[in-house]
Amino acid sequence: MARLSSWLRLAALIGAAAVLAAPSFEAAAGADKPKLEHGKGDKCVEDTDFMRRNHMELLKHHRDETMHQGIRTTKYSLKQCVACHASEKTGSVAATKEDFCAACHSYAGVKLDCWDCHATKPMAKKPGQAEAQAEVKASPLMPNPQNGGAKQ
Ligand code: HEC
Ligand code: HEC
Ligand code: HEC
Repeated sequence: MARLSSWLRLAALIGAAAVLAAPSFEAAAGADKPKLEHGKGDKCVEDTDFMRRNHMELLKHHRDETMHQGIRTTKYSLKQCVACHASEKTGSVAATKEDFCAACHSYAGVKLDCWDCHATKPMAKKPGQAEAQAEVKASPLMPNPQNGGAKQ
């Protein structure tokens, strides 16, 4: 009898350990996340965890509003994302698979068409250079000298 009860206790312990060890979706995602360069400054435009999950919504929503209703706010501007998240090495967010935006996306199998029109590098701040240089180019058919032809 003593034997059975300690067996049960052991079984219960093993069960509990299995539950604890079972990785949550978040934990699994965290462990699998590619190594990312830390952005500039100490924090993102929103809580990091929130950004990890919801950045696409912020950008898409913002894009739709910008494009269809003419609303322009700068809080979730793609240019700002690029300004803070461009790689120290490549100067871009999506020139190589290690660069910030491309790192997760290539891992997750997400392909963005954003870079067909939007620059993956922050605007060069040369004196006398027109602001317009960094704006979205007029036609998606024109080659964009700023993104180095990056896709992804
Ligand atoms: C066919 C070209 C094209 C594609 C593809 C495209 N955009 Fe845009 N986007 C524009 C244009 C044009 C504007 C308006 C120009 C401006 O406001 O500077 C704009 C504006 C924006 C803005 C608001 C301005 C800013 O700099 O933040 C955001 C955010 C944005 N786009 C996000 C995206 C995202 C995310 C994708 C990919 C899912 C994307 N766009 C794909 C052309 C494009
Ligand atoms: C002022 C600079 C700044 C701007 C602007 C900015 N970020 Fe960030 N972002 C950061 C920093 C710094 C971190 C890391 C924060 C941390 O470690 O807690 C971060 C973290 C993130 C993360 C989570 C990365 C991870 O470790 O999982 C995502 C996703 C992200 N940013 C996307 C964006 C997008 C999309 C935009 C544009 C809408 C943007 N960021 C704008 C600085 C910025
Ligand atoms: C921590 C990982 C991670 C980082 C860093 C990251 N993304 Fe994402 N992104 C994802 C994942 C995962 C998805 C797909 C989510 C889904 O399918 O619901 C996604 C989807 C998107 C989408 C929507 C694509 C679509 O067609 O639906 C956009 C736009 C986007 N990301 C923009 C960016 C930009 C811009 C950056 C860099 C500033 C960035 N992301 C950095 C993980 C990341």
